[in-house]
Amino acid sequence: MQEILPLLTKKLEQCKAGEFISFEVLDPDLADAYTGKHIELESISYVYRGYKAWVDLAELLFCKMMTPEKSTYPFVRLRFKKLHTKNSFHLDTQSPKEEKYGLGSAFSQVNKMEEPAFLHYYTQALNNAKLTQRTAILNLGINTGDEFEVIKKSVSAQIFKNIKFVGVDYSQTAIAYARDRFPDDNVTLHAHDINDLEALNVGRFDLLISIGTLQSSSINFKPFFMSLVQNYLQKDAAIILGFPNSRWIDSEMIYGAKAPNYVMSEMSLLFDDVIFCKKYLQQHKFRVTITGKQYLFLTATKIV
Ligand SMILES: C[S@@+](CC[C@H](N)C(=O)[O-])C[C@H]1O[C@@H](n2cnc3c(N)ncnc32)[C@H](O)[C@@H]1O
Repeated sequence: MQEILPLLTKKLEQCKAGEFISFEVLDPDLADAYTGKHIELESISYVYRGYKAWVDLAELLFCKMMTPEKSTYPFVRLRFKKLHTKNSFHLDTQSPKEEKYGLGSAFSQVNKMEEPAFLHYYTQALNNAKLTQRTAILNLGINTGDEFEVIKKSVSAQIFKNIKFVGVDYSQTAIAYARDRFPDDNVTLHAHDINDLEALNVGRFDLLISIGTLQSSSINFKPFFMSLVQNYLQKDAAIILGFPNSRWIDSEMIYGAKAPNYVMSEMSLLFDDVIFCKKYLQQHKFRVTITGKQYLFLTATKIV
């Protein structure tokens, strides 16, 4: 791999976005082994590498891995398509800030709930937060309501009806869409800046959910988070926070946090914010877990 990585990097430097590079590798279906193991086939030695390693490599090289093709035994041909790295909503500086994530935006093409590593850790967090025992849920940065939709699908109609749901987002178009999606009497959706949450008089909640929102440049993360815990939670409340550890580039979710001052992904800010919340919540008698992959999930439940 130490030879392959620079070799493919160099090949890709000579390609335009949208172009392919291709190469042959030992068919991963021919063995069950840890990546890197030497496999003997008809007296010839090969290095085994699984598809997970190749998909990982494609992602690290900002490529999409295409469907492998059978080649002459024992090889398959892999093709990597170079991504348009400029094709990303993270780089959108044109739209007004309220509509950067609105209905017509590049962000609206993303469906996180179809990404297994997102859905898995989100539903795990909901279970750990004892979703079915909750009576009032606040979601900040609700966008079109995907996070409520997962809740609706995972509990009975009766349990759903008995929970008060409040969602807030300053994108008018996303909230209009969410209102069509949830005509239910127990769901209230506000098109409003969460910096001015006080004006909405929403009350207190026993579950707070906020995913990919509180670290936004429009929000002063740490004081805002502390005020949420103090002013919007009931005494036995739970919290689920989702922190992006990935970037959405040309239809792919690429691992690694976006950092303001680096071209590469860099996680200092992410860890700083996550650990700040963890320590603050522990001081306030919450049990805190941190899980996830391309999104880190902080789940906190009150120690009673
Ligand atoms: C990255 S999106 C995440 C949306 C959704 N939670 C998800 O994970 O798919 C951030 C959302 O927060 C909203 N947002 C950011 N800053 C806000 C603010 N100050 N007030 C209200 N909404 C805000 C954006 O409009 C956007 O819908």
